[in-house]
Amino acid sequence: MPPAAKELRTVIVTGASSGIGAHCARALKAEGWRVFATARKPADIAALEADGIEAFYLDYREPDSIAALVDAVLERTGGTLTALFNNGAYAQPGAVEDLPVEALREQFEANFFGWHDLTRRTVPVMRRQGHGRLVHCSSILGLAPVRFRGAYSASKHAIEGLMLCLRQELEGSGIHVSLIEPGPVVSKIAPNALPWFERYVDHEKSVHREPYRAQLARMKGGGSKSRLKLGPDAVYAVLRHALLSARPRPHYVVTLPAKIGVALKRVLPARLLYRVLASQS
Ligand SMILES: NC(=O)c1ccc[n+]([C@@H]2O[C@H](COP(=O)([O-])OP(=O)(O)OC[C@H]3O[C@@H](n4cnc5c(N)ncnc54)[C@H](OP(=O)(O)O)[C@@H]3O)[C@@H](O)[C@H]2O)c1
Repeated sequence: MPPAAKELRTVIVTGASSGIGAHCARALKAEGWRVFATARKPADIAALEADGIEAFYLDYREPDSIAALVDAVLERTGGTLTALFNNGAYAQPGAVEDLPVEALREQFEANFFGWHDLTRRTVPVMRRQGHGRLVHCSSILGLAPVRFRGAYSASKHAIEGLMLCLRQELEGSGIHVSLIEPGPVVSKIAPNALPWFERYVDHEKSVHREPYRAQLARMKGGGSKSRLKLGPDAVYAVLRHALLSARPRPHYVVTLPAKIGVALKRVLPARLLYRVLASQS
């Protein structure tokens, strides 16, 4: 059984230095959760602590940091954990033909293998206690791929596949798995992508240099200026449902562009769908 309302609920939130994770960690804390949030830079860890959140270093590409986080959290809770919100990630930009294998390996270390590792370490805890919530911040790009986002889109498709299998395997265990699929949300995801683009994509020599210029301007300008972009509170609203509802959903699609993407995928023939998606990039 999940903990009664007055019992303290505990949650790990990764990637809490900015954007969705920073907002959700604080919102959960404000609603009475005991929050274990992760970041990488000392200043970000200190900022979380200043807001009364128990903060830890975690880099998904470093398995030791994942093990240390889980050990520290379980020591503090006495071996229990209500929920995990896998959220920390980055978006490697670039056309597939321009991406070295190394760029994809690194993208998958952060966005996929690390998430798997952390999830696997929490499942036995939740099985023992007979309840738990595993919520993963995927993306609309995990359902509908868009050009120049191949590495990121592949990592999110992989998360969808992995966690939907886990969901079936946990049927009847009291542990629920949900995926959140946001479209454009205000965060640092675009500026944070810039160093990855510079590191791995030789953009001036690419056949895609023209569209890359627009992409570069977007990253340098802080991301898309779409009027349909929502604040991270929109993600928090569905995270809350996934954590608290008696019947959490497998998928939570957030923002109108993401909902349109899902609807188009349902109704359009594949050839037309991919043409429409390409026009959105
Ligand atoms: N914003 C959107 O439009 C959007 C849309 C769909 C899905 N999402 C998903 O939402 C989640 C949160 O992203 P965001 O939009 O809030 O972006 P963000 O502001 O860039 O935040 C990303 C967070 O992930 C952390 N992170 C990056 N690489 C990491 C690693 N190797 N190990 C651990 N943490 C790492 C970052 O830490 P540092 O500060 O240390 O780099 C930061 O705390 C991601 O899973 C993203 O894919 C976002």
